[in-house]
Order: sequence, then structure tokens, then C-alpha cells
Amino acid sequence: MGVSLLKTPFFLLSLISFCMLEHGLAGTTRHYHFQIRHQNVTRLCHTKTMVTVNGQFPGPRIVAREGDRLLIKVTNHVQNNISIHWHGIRQLQSGWADGPAYVTQCPIQSGQSYVYNYTIIGQRGTLFWHAHISWLRSTLYGPLIILPKLNAQYPFAKPYKEVPIIFGEWWNADPEAVISQALQTGGGPNVSDAYTINGLPGPLYNCSKKDTFKLNVKAGKIYLLRLINAALNDELFFSIANHSLIVVEADAVYVKPFVTNTILIAPGQTTNVLLKTKSQYPNATFLMTARPYATGLGTFDNSTVAGLLEYKTPPNTHHSPSSLKNLPLLKPTLPALNDTSFATKFSNKLRSLASVEFPANVPQKVDRHFFFTIGLGTAPCQQNQTCQGPNGTMFSASVNNVSYTQPTTALLQAHFLGQSNGVYTPDFPTKPLVPFNYTGTPPNNTMVSNGTKVVVLPFNTSVELVMQDTSILGAESHPLHLHGFNFFVVGQGFGNFNPNKDPANFNLVDPVERNTVGVPSGGWVAIRFLADNPGVWFMHCHLEVHTSWGLKMAWVVLDGKLPNQKLFPLPVDLPKC
Ligand code: C2O
Repeated sequence: MGVSLLKTPFFLLSLISFCMLEHGLAGTTRHYHFQIRHQNVTRLCHTKTMVTVNGQFPGPRIVAREGDRLLIKVTNHVQNNISIHWHGIRQLQSGWADGPAYVTQCPIQSGQSYVYNYTIIGQRGTLFWHAHISWLRSTLYGPLIILPKLNAQYPFAKPYKEVPIIFGEWWNADPEAVISQALQTGGGPNVSDAYTINGLPGPLYNCSKKDTFKLNVKAGKIYLLRLINAALNDELFFSIANHSLIVVEADAVYVKPFVTNTILIAPGQTTNVLLKTKSQYPNATFLMTARPYATGLGTFDNSTVAGLLEYKTPPNTHHSPSSLKNLPLLKPTLPALNDTSFATKFSNKLRSLASVEFPANVPQKVDRHFFFTIGLGTAPCQQNQTCQGPNGTMFSASVNNVSYTQPTTALLQAHFLGQSNGVYTPDFPTKPLVPFNYTGTPPNNTMVSNGTKVVVLPFNTSVELVMQDTSILGAESHPLHLHGFNFFVVGQGFGNFNPNKDPANFNLVDPVERNTVGVPSGGWVAIRFLADNPGVWFMHCHLEVHTSWGLKMAWVVLDGKLPNQKLFPLPVDLPKC
């Protein structure tokens, strides 16, 4: 490690000791060991046993540099099946390490291990890792920080310190029981009891004051806040009282910097912001708060998580430490819980940096067009009794009216071994089979169909996908996440997408490049990506309840001709179903 350690920001030093390093020719190989085990954790005066990585909640930080190889051994010491996803990592040729259970791997069973083996190519910034099976990601998650290559610089002022801020969601109950009950009754799952910042709910909840995240800062410095939304079911507004933020990166891609008081961040999204602290030590302490942006008809946790921004005066000055003084506590004002107009303005400000060093390689020609409806629906009641979903049915959710059925083996190995028969079919509809007025009065029949259907794409196909929200059971913003790729958000609008008019307004110059995008409530979004990564790539709503209801599908990208265009061989330790 040697010299590189000196250049590592101070806050990372203690963490790097968790991991062992080796030098390779290109990058460094970093080894981590994730031991999945139970741990008692108390919040809001409730103690519960939760599934953790190494007993930590939230889980440990993974820190690497662009070009590094990661070998992360996951050993499962609990009864639950486990798989871990490295959210936003492209996994070029290494789809075996992507992690979604029954998509790229069978889960790691109790007592078993699997080594996630991948190299970070052409990416730097903030991402995160999380469990990708059932709702276990409510406690199994942590930051994944990719530093620029040695000697490479940020395209913005060098921060004095870097601080990960990861939002989560806390249930007093066991989240696995919450979702399994909801899937049995057909109704909506119980909402969480609190939101958390770095695992801490903060002072606005009962019995929680001591569990408050504190950011101690010096005056006149620049801090890089690495914001991550690891909540299960809620998009969040975030703001710090009396401070503005400069957004510099989204989903580990640099953006054109812009100033804002509030950011909006959906589950699955990450946002880097610069916080310039005041030049003089202020006579106040500042709250940072986050609460939901919610558009659907269902109930949601409308509580507010808060942390503290405290100015710590240097020890040798005559000021007494600010925490000992009774300073006024200033609170930020957040947008209303359903402020779609804020959401629209905020997403329109996000633009690729599109510089010489970091160009926006937007596909200019399109080989294949897709139009997917995204939304809720219903399924027949399975018991001979009344279910707790709409009108006695079960809640469901779909893409193009196909609600995804999870197979009992993994799609990727079925594809790789040529054994897809009985596992999946390649007939995912490219557009709705029965068109309707998507954002108008919903059709009478809201029942979804079921299946394990995929889209098969030849290597290097350039894809344009329009995702259209539906008003079935209420229009709602859906953060859609695509595995294995970044995509460019070339257009969005309200109402029904118009294929004759809307494409003329697409931004093919500097659209934001990311891995998770909100389909606007009652509107549509158009994305483009180049299918240059062979494998099977999951795409789903990152609101976990919608994923549970089937709002998911997969793309199969075939191998290209060249050796570096082919999926790596099946790992010897790949878990078996
Ligand atoms: Cu962050 Cu498929 O997930």
C-alpha cells in the first residue's frame, strides 16, 4: 500500500485496515470478508436481533480505487438464504458477481460461502452494496466508495474531508415478517417506524436522542458528502439548515455542478454534494433532515430523520466548545411530502459533466426501441377468503402487465449452460399487448399476467427504452434500476408519451448518466444505453415493496465475438439452488 496510504483521506484509514491489499499490474486487489451473522441492535427503545455483516449496522464500508479488483468472501452463518449486490458496479464480463438472487446466482445457503470477484473498470464515485433477496437489505447494506485512480483528481475543489451519509429505514418488527405477511394477505406491508442516517434515527423520534448522527466540522472548509439512499420504500428530500449544497455527482458519474438547498434522492440513487462550511464559527447548531417524497395512494412512513451539523472550534482558541454552549438549533424547511414540481425541477438540473475527460457517450442511433408500462395492478385472491388488497384482491405490480415470477434457479446459469427451457422465455413484450390511456381513467380489468420473461439483445445493441407510469391504483413515482449498465436519461414528461412529438425534445448532448431513475408520477421517462456487457441484467423498481409484487424483468445480453466481449466462465464456488 505504501505511499497510497498517505494520500488516503483520514476517515478511510481505519477502514482500510479491515481489508488486505495486494498489488497487481493494473490495480490493487482488495480482500474483504463479510461474515453474515445475527446481532442485537437497539433503536427507539426496541432491541431486536438482526442479520448483519460482521455484526455492524449499517454494514462496513468497501473502499477501493478505480481499476482495483475486489475479492469479497461472503460466509453465511444465519438460517436465511443470502446474496449481496454491488449496486451500480457495471460488472463487465463478471455478471456472476452481480448478486440478485435467482437472477445471477442461487443464494448462499446457511453454512456456505461465495467469493464475489470483480474489477472496477471506468467508474469512480459513491455506490453502495446491499442484500438482494427478500427484504434483507433493510439491515444488510453499506457504502461502496470508489476513489479516483492514484494521481487522478476530482473535477471540483478538493474536499477537506469526505463523509458517507447513508439513509436507511428501521422497523421495530422483523422486516422479513412484515413482507411475508403482506404477501400472504395481499395488502400493503406495514410502514417503517423511522428513517435513519448512518443507522441513527435522531432526536425527532421518541427515545432516540442518543442515537443521533453528528457531523463535526471546522469553519471555512469544503466537505464532500456522499449521500446514499438505502431506504426500502421511500424517496427522500434532504436538506441542512442555513447551508447550501453543490451537487457534483449522481450514481457515481460526475455532473455539471449546481447549487441547491434540498436534494431529492430515490432508493438506489447516490448523490455527492459539496458542503462549504461558514467562514466564521456560527453561534448556532444546524439540523440536517430527511423525509419522504411520496406520490402513491398507499400509506407511508411520514416521519423525519435528523442529524446534527456542529461547528467544533479548534481546542486552542478562547471559544468554549459549541456543544457545551446552549446554541440555538436551526431546522431546514423541506418541500411538501408530495411536491412533484420540486422533483421535476430537481431532475431537470441534473446534467452530465460532458467534459473532454468525462464525455457523455450518449448513443446517437438506436437499434431497438422499447416501450414499457410501469405500475401497480391486482392478482386474484389465492385463499377462499377476502384478501386485503384492492377490492378483496391481492396487490401486484408489473412491467408491460407482466408480473415477474421468480424461478427456482438462477437465470444467468440457465443462459450460460443453454438450459433456459422451463426457467425463462425470451418473449418479454416490447410494448403493451393491449394499449390503453395509461395516465387516464384506469381500465376496468386491472389483473396482471405472470411469467419469467426476458428480452434478448445481441452484443452492442443500442437501446432506447421509454418507461410509462400508469394510473392503475394511483399514479406513482417509480425509481427504476438497471443492473450492469449506466443509462442516459434523454427525456421525460407528464401524461402519455407521444412517439411522434416527444423524441424531438430529447437531450442527446449532456443528459445525466445514472443507474436508477424516477419514472415521474403520471408521466414517462426515456433512457438510452448500449448493451455492451454480456450477461443477464435485472431491471426493477427500487421501492422494495413493488419489487416484491413483481415490478421487475431481465435483459439477456449475448456474448460478442471478441474475447473481451464474453461472459467469464462459471465460478467454481457459484452457489447451488
Ligand atoms: Cu440496488 Cu437490483 O438493486
